[in-house]
Amino acid sequence: MKRYFIAGNWKMHKTIAEAVALASELKDKLADCKEKLMIAPPFTALQAVSKIVEGSNILLGAQNMGPEESGAHTGEISVLMLKDLGVRVVILGHSERRHTYGENDELINKKVRLALSHKLEVILCVGETLEEREHGMLENVIRRQLSEGLKGVELSALKDVTIAYEPVWAIGTGKTATPEDADAVHAFCRQVIAEMYGKDAAKAIVIQYGGSVKADNAAALMSKENIDGALVGGASLKAEAFVPIAKFR
Ligand code: 13P
Repeated sequence: MKRYFIAGNWKMHKTIAEAVALASELKDKLADCKEKLMIAPPFTALQAVSKIVEGSNILLGAQNMGPEESGAHTGEISVLMLKDLGVRVVILGHSERRHTYGENDELINKKVRLALSHKLEVILCVGETLEEREHGMLENVIRRQLSEGLKGVELSALKDVTIAYEPVWAIGTGKTATPEDADAVHAFCRQVIAEMYGKDAAKAIVIQYGGSVKADNAAALMSKENIDGALVGGASLKAEAFVPIAKFR
């Protein structure tokens, strides 16, 4: 049976006390959940949340990472610091990093390779803006983000990579891609992965959907052949919203 990867990206929300409360509630309420689970609190709460989820079925994720191991990089957080805190997964190339903070494919690729070399799992986010979609550029954008983002990544490391398709126009807007539309883009992602790594790798890779995932649309999205999980933003901030998504079946 397919095991889905349901992840919560808390973005810039939660003080340490709030993060601890939410993580504790999720740990209790999701103890019987068989899906692969991850939560990514803000950096400041990683240490506290790490202690809570340690030994549970919830993996600790980080929302970003610097492109170097150490050095003069004011404001950046290193892969070594994340590993030190028990982080297992890092979200890279999120559209908010790309579009608000100007991260390009080259920088994202550097982070991807660094994280994988340290045996962290990577969630590589891809997705088009509304303008790109309306100008017929969807496939070009996705192909570029995948091929540039994964440049230099060996087939043997691909097992530690999850792709998250997050159409920018669906993030935090309440507008979800229809399950059919999302499935079609996921199938296209698989096609690009097949061209890069072969059919078996394309079949095996986990592709999450992200963008206004809620309890009432999760099951329909997850029912699609090419959708293997969800990267949840807003609805991951409260247990009563996130638990039913993780327990969609
Ligand atoms: P929302 O679920 O709030 O639309 O955010 C999606 C997202 O960006 C997850 O990374």
